[in-house]
Amino acid sequence: MKTAIRIAALATAASGILGLTVAAFAQTTPAAKPMQIAQITAKGKLQKPADLESWIFLGASLGMGYNPGSFNAAHPGQFQIVLMEPNAYRYFAEHRTYAPGSMLLLSFYDSDKQQRSINQNGFTQADLTNYEIHVIDPAQGKDGRTFYTFDAKDTEGSPVPAGNGCVRCHVDHGAFEGTFAQFYPTLRPFVPKEALERAARDHDIR
Ligand code: HEC
Repeated sequence: MKTAIRIAALATAASGILGLTVAAFAQTTPAAKPMQIAQITAKGKLQKPADLESWIFLGASLGMGYNPGSFNAAHPGQFQIVLMEPNAYRYFAEHRTYAPGSMLLLSFYDSDKQQRSINQNGFTQADLTNYEIHVIDPAQGKDGRTFYTFDAKDTEGSPVPAGNGCVRCHVDHGAFEGTFAQFYPTLRPFVPKEALERAARDHDIR
């Protein structure tokens, strides 16, 4: 049995302010699209969202690390690609805050020098190895967010238990509402200048 995270705030946000709608309102406002809500299984896992491939691109990084000198140009590590559920993104762009239930995706791809065709230098994206989804939901515990981890072929993701390091780093160092909006060119224009300036002074994560 699956239960959806449904909270009053979401219904209000999604149907009223947003111009988005939850399924129940769909008939009365045919033009509006429902925000895809995190589907949590009876065992507390997150069902893989059906249309991940069509989510909105937020940003990418390669070889980003937190210690000076830790970058190895010959082995830069994995590409990290961040996407967001499209209706949650539209809400964010309009209201400059995340709707309850917003989902953000971080996917990991090996970086690859393999000559696939015309490429002679540099790195391209190899296959997906694993991914993580950040569900923002103030109704969920004291952190107001849950992180789920998936292997490439998983159809359900496991929640990272409460009190985890993911939440700590995100809340302490993410520029906006526990997300790393400072690294996403698609979100930066919507984030308050002060939040980006604060992030720009934040160089020590110990
Ligand atoms: C030391 C800090 C740190 C820790 C710990 C951390 N992250 Fe992140 N996370 C980042 C940074 C920086 C980004 C920006 C994207 C990137 O990596 O390119 C990010 C981005 C993300 C995103 C994309 C959406 C967002 O919130 O910005 C997800 C999803 C995510 N991380 C999941 C996790 C999970 C799951 C864990 C724990 C297993 C975790 N993170 C632990 C620093 C951290």
